[in-house]
Amino acid sequence: MNEIKLTSFAEKKAEKAENLRPFSGLKLLHIKKQIASILGQIGRNGIFDEYTKHDISHIDFMLDSLDWIIPPKTQEILTPTDWLMLTLSIYFHDLGMLVTKEEYENRNNSDFPEFKEQIIKGELGLDYRDKVLGINPTDRQDRFIYQELVRKNHAQRIKYWILDEKNPIFPTEMNIINEIKSLISKADNMFRRDLALICESHHLDDLDDFEKYKPNQQYGPTSQETINLHYCAIILRTADLLHITSDRTPSIEFSLINPTDPISQEEWAKQRAVKAIRPKVKKNKDGRVDSSLPKDTLEVIALFENEFGFFGLISYLNYAKLQLMDSCKYTDMANRLNDINYEFPWKDIDDSSIEAKDFSKEQFEFKLDQTRILDLLVGHTLYNDSSVVLRELTQNGIDASKLMKYELDNRGDNDYKPEIEINWNSGKRELSFMDNGTGMTLEIIKNHLLKVGSSRYQDENFLKKYPNFSSISRFGIGLLTCFLIADDIDITTKYFDSDEIILLKIKKIHGKYLLKYLPTDSIPSMIKNHGTIVKLYVRSEVNLEKIEHNLKKWILFPDCKLTFNDDQKQIKIGYNSPKELLTSYLKENGYDVDDKILKVKEVHDNGVTLAFAIKYIEHWKEWNFLEYTERNRDITPPIGTCVEGIRVDFTTPGFKGRNLFAVVNTTGKNAPKTNVARSNIEVTPEREALLSSIYALYLNHISDEIDNLKQGGFSISWAAKEGNYLLRDFTRSRDFLGRDAEFEDITTFEKALSKMNLILVEKGNSRELVSIEELSSINHYWTIDCVSYSSADSLIKEVKSSNTSALSLLRTIFGSEDSNTDHIDYLLCNINQTDKNIERLLEEKFQVDSIKIIPEQRRLDLKWSLVSEKIWEEILIEDEYHRNRNKSKCYIQLKDFEIDSSITQTAINSSNALFILKNSELNKYLVKVISDLSERTQENRIILSKVVKLIKSFFYHKEFNKAKVEEFIESRLQRNNNEDIEHLFWDKINKEELISTILKTNFIKYDTTIWFRRDW
Ligand SMILES: Nc1ncnc2c1ncn2[C@@H]1O[C@H](COP(=O)(O)OP(=O)(O)OP(=O)(O)O)[C@@H](O)[C@H]1O
Ligand SMILES: [Mg+2]
Repeated sequence: MNEIKLTSFAEKKAEKAENLRPFSGLKLLHIKKQIASILGQIGRNGIFDEYTKHDISHIDFMLDSLDWIIPPKTQEILTPTDWLMLTLSIYFHDLGMLVTKEEYENRNNSDFPEFKEQIIKGELGLDYRDKVLGINPTDRQDRFIYQELVRKNHAQRIKYWILDEKNPIFPTEMNIINEIKSLISKADNMFRRDLALICESHHLDDLDDFEKYKPNQQYGPTSQETINLHYCAIILRTADLLHITSDRTPSIEFSLINPTDPISQEEWAKQRAVKAIRPKVKKNKDGRVDSSLPKDTLEVIALFENEFGFFGLISYLNYAKLQLMDSCKYTDMANRLNDINYEFPWKDIDDSSIEAKDFSKEQFEFKLDQTRILDLLVGHTLYNDSSVVLRELTQNGIDASKLMKYELDNRGDNDYKPEIEINWNSGKRELSFMDNGTGMTLEIIKNHLLKVGSSRYQDENFLKKYPNFSSISRFGIGLLTCFLIADDIDITTKYFDSDEIILLKIKKIHGKYLLKYLPTDSIPSMIKNHGTIVKLYVRSEVNLEKIEHNLKKWILFPDCKLTFNDDQKQIKIGYNSPKELLTSYLKENGYDVDDKILKVKEVHDNGVTLAFAIKYIEHWKEWNFLEYTERNRDITPPIGTCVEGIRVDFTTPGFKGRNLFAVVNTTGKNAPKTNVARSNIEVTPEREALLSSIYALYLNHISDEIDNLKQGGFSISWAAKEGNYLLRDFTRSRDFLGRDAEFEDITTFEKALSKMNLILVEKGNSRELVSIEELSSINHYWTIDCVSYSSADSLIKEVKSSNTSALSLLRTIFGSEDSNTDHIDYLLCNINQTDKNIERLLEEKFQVDSIKIIPEQRRLDLKWSLVSEKIWEEILIEDEYHRNRNKSKCYIQLKDFEIDSSITQTAINSSNALFILKNSELNKYLVKVISDLSERTQENRIILSKVVKLIKSFFYHKEFNKAKVEEFIESRLQRNNNEDIEHLFWDKINKEELISTILKTNFIKYDTTIWFRRDW
């Protein structure tokens, strides 16, 4: 090692402090020698030396850099105590980065395991996790993680060492603590404490704490013993931050600088690419370098071997720039507050001289073309309809008045009446929007109104101040829509907490604006206390005939008094509630809303208000949903979804088209978010919650009707049948073009449906209604196919107010022994009358896993249990002639299960499916065909359906010989008149095999339906 000396200017100045009383006995040279020796020792047997240079040269570099970081004038006013603090803090500040071999080996006793887990769980970012997990081998990965942990806490480590206190994160301390302690034991105790705080400060974010970093600390009576701790902290941070030459790794965590790629920082440090960092000389007006001009920017000169290092350094410098800006700001603040003048001129870093080998020297970056972007936003892309300006400006007024109300309510002032007035003067072509809302301050105007993309309502401070306020505004671009119809805009505003009235004149979207303060008597009384007027001078080519129509189209429930004044008339816009809107529309359009045969029902759930029209069917004593039929295309029907009273969607809530008369409004924190064009709702959990509420509210109407029927004296069985009928009508309702209405989100509808009590079951002697969810928790149910049961079912349906079970009736009639009903604990009634959505959900969840036949009753009992392992392959049989008819089903048995030993038939026919059982040639053949056609393409599905359909016919033609079978099959296939299908069929199906299976099969099935005589 070279001989250690006090070489820098800073150390020489600092040495003078040795003569001051608070530091007597302290020997700077001795301290430096000891530190060099500690660093040297650790370099030899430690870890991390691979990445980080720990010798005294880093310290010398930093000390030398003080020469240019601290401007000459400020150097002159620094006291020996300032210099001593600067020198010692530079000696000590990074010692915390040092880790001995023993400490690393003991890492499991520190916070390392938790920290590692945090990274692996992705809590510090998923990209960061992936990068770290990509480091091999594990030991290298551990070392990287430990290094990051130390990096994160190194400043705190040195603080604890100097203070001689225990560090909770690293309980296993190193021996060097004692050495460090003894080095500065001679210094004044307050000075020692401040040294610890300054060392720690270079990694904290609290340079605005002037109590902690006193700009005028003093350790003794003379001026030589005073110190500006704040300035010392700033200078230490800067010198450390800017030491990026050579192979030093910065002591800030990589995850903080570049959360997605910590490795690029490491790469940069390894590449020794930074040649110099220096103050940048300025050019004068003629473009010539003039070194006498004051400097405020630093420049970095570097050449990288590859792009990783390049991007690593760039992201570090972005971080460093922010730090420099803060340092400037806080130094200024300290100067102002204490009437002192310590200079910190470094405001920026110029990185244009950083190159990467093989890449062009010129640096490229994204540039925003402000003019183009504004054109895009207000042009055709986002808002293609000039009427949206009416919506946007009204919305802004609604938000401002809602906020005013929120503010005044909080102050206990409940007299406020929110109000918006829209005026159109066609002669002058002036359109103005006046609201008595909060108004705006100059700051709000600058930071939000005129800053595209910055909505005040989403601002962090705003959300803190008004946590429960929910606005319509979201994006900070609504005002731009003004320029769709006007070039010149005047905004007059008075903020509620200020006396100033501001007038802002804007000319053209790309232009500048002018601002002036107006006297109080120059504004309309409506905004005397607070409020805003936005006045648009509408361009002459813009057609504004339909203002009223457009306002009514968008603004349904403004939650304030909203009037539109035309040249001639005054029109109220909006309604108090969805019910009011729907009722008034129906009345205006010739419906007799008398509450006897037609009414509007309004229901609520969690910030959601849904209104729908229903009509009474006297014959059935039921209220059905009123279907929408389009009459007049010019009138926008009162149908749609609103967020905070503004319509964002014009279809029936919950559906993709317009089928029912219904409108919904959703408000509050849980309301879903609109997309940027406000033409729809974004797919978020809030949207799902809204849809879920909407479906539940519709379905609740059906439940209510079931309850009404029961209360009206009908049996539960009758009510259940009607409930399912209403549901069927609702799910199959037609849109105004006569198509089946599609659900907006079928999965959410099914979830809501699964919770509804619409399924009739019997248990013991009574019947009850349960939901699919409840049925699933019971795990299984039975169904019965037989005439006596359905007769009993029909009978009890007619019995007044009955909830008796059909089984109990059978037990009475047959006698409990002969009725053969003991195995049935839970019976699903009326499966053929349930809605197809319920049927589909049940079939998805349950499968037959037990079959019983009771021939003397011509009866078939099926037990359906929750599917755990698939027992059947389901094949739907298409009916070529009746495409829309319900497809019949065929189930091919794949697995064994409990089955009556008396069943010897090849198949079982229930009222809506054929089950082909396992112990037959036919089953084996079909299982093979299924596996050959396992790829369920459309073609394969058609072929499977045809095979099964053909085979099914042979249950009725058992008597055919081979030739006849062949002829029959051919004729059936030709029925379609489609040669392609025929070819396709014989491509995949072996004819011989099919025919021989048919000939070998005993086509006998157990069938509860064959005892019916049909009239031909
Ligand atoms: N009538 C008004 N009263 C008070 N403040 C207003 C008014 N109009 C606009 N502002 C302020 O100007 C900001 C910008 O308005 P702008 O309509 O451009 O965006 P936004 O309303 O925040 O969001 P969005 O793009 O969703 O409309 C608002 O956030 C609000 O602070
Ligand atoms: Mg807005």
